Amino acid sequence: MRSLIDILDLSKDEIASLIRTADDIIQNPEKYAEKCHGKKLATLFFEPSTRTRLSFEAAMYELGGHVIGFSEAASSSASKGESIADTVRVVSCYADIIAMRHPKEGAPLVASMKSGVPVINAGDGGHNHPTQTLADLLTIHREKGRFSDLTVGLCGDLKFGRTVHSLISALSRYENVRFVLISPEELVLPDYIKEDVLQRGGFSFYETEDLEEVMPELDILYMTRVQRERFFNEADYIRLKDSYILTPEKLLTAKQDLAILHPLPRVGEIAGSVDDDPRACYFKQALYGKYMRMALILMLLEVS
Ligand code: CP
Repeated sequence: MRSLIDILDLSKDEIASLIRTADDIIQNPEKYAEKCHGKKLATLFFEPSTRTRLSFEAAMYELGGHVIGFSEAASSSASKGESIADTVRVVSCYADIIAMRHPKEGAPLVASMKSGVPVINAGDGGHNHPTQTLADLLTIHREKGRFSDLTVGLCGDLKFGRTVHSLISALSRYENVRFVLISPEELVLPDYIKEDVLQRGGFSFYETEDLEEVMPELDILYMTRVQRERFFNEADYIRLKDSYILTPEKLLTAKQDLAILHPLPRVGEIAGSVDDDPRACYFKQALYGKYMRMALILMLLEVS
């Protein structure tokens, strides 16, 4: 029995296989409509979500399965003090697979050690978000046809941005990827990722506060939200929240085949006027998340 806690739990070959499956689901959805007949997914969301929870639910329904779960800790017995370990032990009796989001880093890992069924990390605090990374990778693959030889700009909250941390880990296994890290000084990428992933892997990276300076070099621009929920101090959030606002004017120097990604939700860091730019991929990216979650459920349930 396998769980997905960190994107590196999947080999490069397995990621390639998930992408092939997702592409096939997009082409031939009817082939998959009964693959999970009789199976149940439990969505245990202790933190708010729109895309991840609903795309997991849509994924299981489109595979012919069923969904149970809760969307906030307050409506579960966690509000009475039940531990993660006890919660997943019990939910394992009711479901074949669990998708869990939790504000505490490491909670899905603890859950996977106590669960009788596969656990998927649907985002743990400021740590990791591997299924968002699967959506990001499918988007990059469909836009660029490769993961190698890319200059990838990551912009915004690189400190608490779990989607950024997982995406850097995933791309650090491919050749000639150059990372451009664009953030205010207070929200730079944590040292443990710079040292353990980028420096140890011999990756080229460049840190800057200036998005416009680096715009012409980028093949991928991955925008992120400054996350109010990760700040201890509201004044710091207010000061930093509008550090970057992507507008059509700022894209004038960008490559014609730039791909603009964002895990969403956005709260102002991409102007609505960018949405009609053919380089804006973030709504496709949200759709692709459903297909990659379908492929992942099939893999973890060992459904062929
Ligand atoms: N990208 C993402 O995780 O969105 P939600 O928080 O809406 O699930």
